[in-house]
Amino acid sequence: MLCGPCRRLGASVAPAAALAAALLSSFARCSVPEPSGPVAQALSPYFGTKTRYEDVNPGLLADPEAPRRDPELLEGTCTPVQLVALIRHGTRYPTAKQIGKLRQLHGLLRARSPGAALADWPLWYADWMDGQLVEKGRQDMRQLALRLAALFPALFSRENYGRLRLITSSKHRCVDSGAAFLQGLWQHYHPGLPPPDVADMECGPPRINDKLMRFFDHCEKFLTEVERNATALFHVEAFKTGPEMQNTLKKVAAALQVPVKDLNADLIQVAFFTCSFDLAIRGVKSPWCDVFDIDDAKVLEYLNDLKQYWKRGYGYTINSRSSCTLFQNIFQHLDKAVEQKQRSQPVSSPVILQFGHAETLLPLLSLMGYFKDKEPLTAYNYEEQMHRKFRSGHIVPYASNLIFVLYHCENAKTPQEEFQVQMLLNEKVLPLAHSQEPVSLYEDLKNHYKDILQDCQTSEECKLPKMNSTSDEL
Ligand SMILES: *[C@@H]1O[C@H](CO)[C@@H](O)[C@H](O)[C@H]1NC(C)=O
Repeated sequence: MLCGPCRRLGASVAPAAALAAALLSSFARCSVPEPSGPVAQALSPYFGTKTRYEDVNPGLLADPEAPRRDPELLEGTCTPVQLVALIRHGTRYPTAKQIGKLRQLHGLLRARSPGAALADWPLWYADWMDGQLVEKGRQDMRQLALRLAALFPALFSRENYGRLRLITSSKHRCVDSGAAFLQGLWQHYHPGLPPPDVADMECGPPRINDKLMRFFDHCEKFLTEVERNATALFHVEAFKTGPEMQNTLKKVAAALQVPVKDLNADLIQVAFFTCSFDLAIRGVKSPWCDVFDIDDAKVLEYLNDLKQYWKRGYGYTINSRSSCTLFQNIFQHLDKAVEQKQRSQPVSSPVILQFGHAETLLPLLSLMGYFKDKEPLTAYNYEEQMHRKFRSGHIVPYASNLIFVLYHCENAKTPQEEFQVQMLLNEKVLPLAHSQEPVSLYEDLKNHYKDILQDCQTSEECKLPKMNSTSDEL
């Protein structure tokens, strides 16, 4: 066995510093990547937005195509009439920016400790990869399609295939995710037959709509006050130089045998990302994982969550308000289906699939009041936030999905009770924010969110406040 010693080392979770020397020399002898072992998996709960979908739904590790039927899903007297799904793209490559930083760190290691395993470990990421969907990501989408089709057979019927509506962000990884999802459905209808090109499929290729799926790029107030504002992410920057990060930096520097002053939070974060990318993309346990222990992983997870919190979550009101149009769009679809059903017409769009980003889902979930902690996440309350609700790895892993299911219920006493709604997050029923119940009357849900449905106009929300200092006075 070429890599015998490596596999043994991978079997225990030891403090990084203690393991480092042994790892660095033993990995140098190994050219074949090992399958993911316990070390990488011990860190995987802390990968934030780079978490594999199956780490959130561990049942999928055994059988990724078996539908997971949440026992709280409505059955019997209610029939699903429409499904609106917001789906984050599947597993992707690192961005060119992340690859650039990784190359910088790799260069540092080659200069400082040549011959060490990490310096020898090939960098298999190249600039062209820039955030694109990987084969594993296509598989994430095909398998999700198969499971959803099995879970809602009446909606994903062969007859409905031509009426599917696909809307996507313009990013390649989202367009490709939509196409892979369609191929999964094709596989469901025609097992064994090779799928046609998406352009030739009945429902046509996914339609690009960035105003809907990348609303954050179109909201002037968000861009000015948050995205392009250096001080808006104050807590992220402060945490990078705070005591928890200093402690992690020291440990990682010792493990890598480089001076602490050569490292910073951004560089070790990219090393941590690489550990997660190697696991998600290649299914291998990367030596980049071995420089971290669980405590370091928790610190780096918090850094990632802090950024999401201040940029996409509750940190600033505009983060979530910028998603009002998307929220209203979902309810327009549901309204239309209700109307058609009430007139005994066929529902024109029984299945609506919208492909976007973690940055699409997080603001929407925040707008709806989910995963809100009592205290904000700051640079100074790491310990207190240890059991926070806002953990992006649990909410928006790769291929994460938020699904609205509208039901028509036959035996209801009054007409208003005919329509009910359930929400699913990552295929698990998400209790409604207003009642904590697994299902709601459609009217009650609309009533709960009436402020957002009626009084949130993106054009107004995203308008920049008028400058009150008059420039002509100066
Ligand atoms: C940038 O963010 C800070 C902190 O939220 C805020 O006080 C400031 O007004 C913002 N700057 C702009 C130009 O919006």
